[in-house]
Amino acid sequence: MTAHILVAYSTRKGSTAEIALAIAKELEKTGAAVTVSDMTTVSSLEGYNAVVIGAPVYTGKVARDVAFFARRNRDALSRVPVAGFVTGIAPVYPKTGDISVFTGQLTEALAPVKPVAVTMFAGNLDASRLSFIERGMTSVLKVPTGDFRDWVTIALWARDLPGKMGL
Ligand SMILES: Cc1cc2nc3c(=O)[nH]c(=O)nc-3n(C[C@H](O)[C@H](O)[C@H](O)COP(=O)(O)O)c2cc1C
Repeated sequence: MTAHILVAYSTRKGSTAEIALAIAKELEKTGAAVTVSDMTTVSSLEGYNAVVIGAPVYTGKVARDVAFFARRNRDALSRVPVAGFVTGIAPVYPKTGDISVFTGQLTEALAPVKPVAVTMFAGNLDASRLSFIERGMTSVLKVPTGDFRDWVTIALWARDLPGKMGL
């Protein structure tokens, strides 16, 4: 039977959604059927054999969409393998936080569901898409802007998931 995997993302500016699509492309290469959805629009997990969850970090916190999604779907998530990733600038600019703190926040938001894998990917801080306030915040903190997404790292992580998920 073909495994059907949901890649559910949260995003404000699109970069986590694009990472979700890249993960889906990689999972499809392993023969899985994959659906990519904004997690706020997912009403049921029926029919999925596994779920990958991805969300960005803003001002030190993993997007709250994850906790809401996990709460809404707790029973279904406890029956399938779950993996998660967070997106942020911390992997290239540690002053914006600790990777382990953010992956820990993700794990906590999913609890009591235990993910088979969690990681943090470097994201995209697109200067042209920052609001006036965001531009002020990033310049005060001297946060580097740019697209730091490493598509090879993302693809390698995705490629390992079916094995970790027992699919
Ligand atoms: C106002 C603002 C605050 C941010 N705060 C953090 C942070 O505390 N830690 C971090 O690692 N990344 C932080 N980031 C970087 C975002 O997580 C990164 O740009 C991510 O790729 C955004 O994902 P999205 O495009 O899916 O919304 C921040 C970005 C902005 C614009």
